Amino acid sequence: MSSAPTPPDRYALVGHPVSHSWSPFIHGMFARATLQHMQYRLIDVASDRFRTEAVQFFVDGGKGLNVTIPHKQTAAEFVNELTPRAEEADAVNTISRLPSGELVGDNTDGVGLVIDLEDNLKIALEGRRVLILGAGGATRGVVGPLLARRPALLAIANRTRARAEQIAARFAGRGAIIASGFESIDEGAFDLVINATAAGLEGTVPPIAPTTIGANTVCYDMAYAPGDTPFTHWAKAQGAQATYKGWGMLVEQAAEAFLVWRGIRPQTRQVLELLTRKGPAAVRIIPPGGSGP
Ligand code: ATR
Repeated sequence: MSSAPTPPDRYALVGHPVSHSWSPFIHGMFARATLQHMQYRLIDVASDRFRTEAVQFFVDGGKGLNVTIPHKQTAAEFVNELTPRAEEADAVNTISRLPSGELVGDNTDGVGLVIDLEDNLKIALEGRRVLILGAGGATRGVVGPLLARRPALLAIANRTRARAEQIAARFAGRGAIIASGFESIDEGAFDLVINATAAGLEGTVPPIAPTTIGANTVCYDMAYAPGDTPFTHWAKAQGAQATYKGWGMLVEQAAEAFLVWRGIRPQTRQVLELLTRKGPAAVRIIPPGGSGP
């Protein structure tokens, strides 16, 4: 008598909205390439039901969750344990269930961004002047890993200045970090400007002075879209040396989550190529947030 086939290990992305997420495609490609018996689906959950749905997923035998907007900070409170990088960010994008049943929260957004910048795009960070626009969950996840690369300066500018100041205070002592509002950045041209705001969703660009962009400035939008995002469009008009969108961060944070869950880091190049070729079929701007949408 032949035994029933083993069911696949179950993973999912929980967030709202998630219907347009590329994560099932990315993890499906990784699973095929590394011969992992697993499935990855989307769970669309509004804020008030996150805990209930996440508990149910794990009670039903789920192995791991990715978490995206708007649940990353709630997820950090929900898990039993945080990895050091998730604790530092106070935000979780990857949850694993240990054999004991304990849930561990991790954050792979920062390492995903740094790998995309340094390995894929060959953008050096050490000794460079870096500006991040935005002070939400996306920024919290990447500040620690960026500071670990020892930039000469990491400036955080945000519409609500107090949120930028909170992050700078949290990471004070870890490197040269300053905070400001958009209009008050007065530091001349930066080497790298990263947009981590959701302004592009409204078709706008944070109102920073054009003098922050020089002929040698590289601009990176954590959001991604088929063509230019409002930020990459604006940056080109200011004469930026190069502009990039967040496809690579999306794929690299996913590869890092896959490593956390399966113990194997899949190759990312082929998936990234497929995704950026497929990307033009999408019609909307996707917000920052790494694991998500
Ligand atoms: P995420 O997890 O994607 O960072 P978030 O925590 O809601 O999401 O943060 C969104 C970021 O985009 C914040 O920095 C927000 O600025 P505020 O802190 O002032 O709210 C920023 N943002 C959203 N809409 C914006 C807009 N139209 N112009 C500029 N910044 C905007």
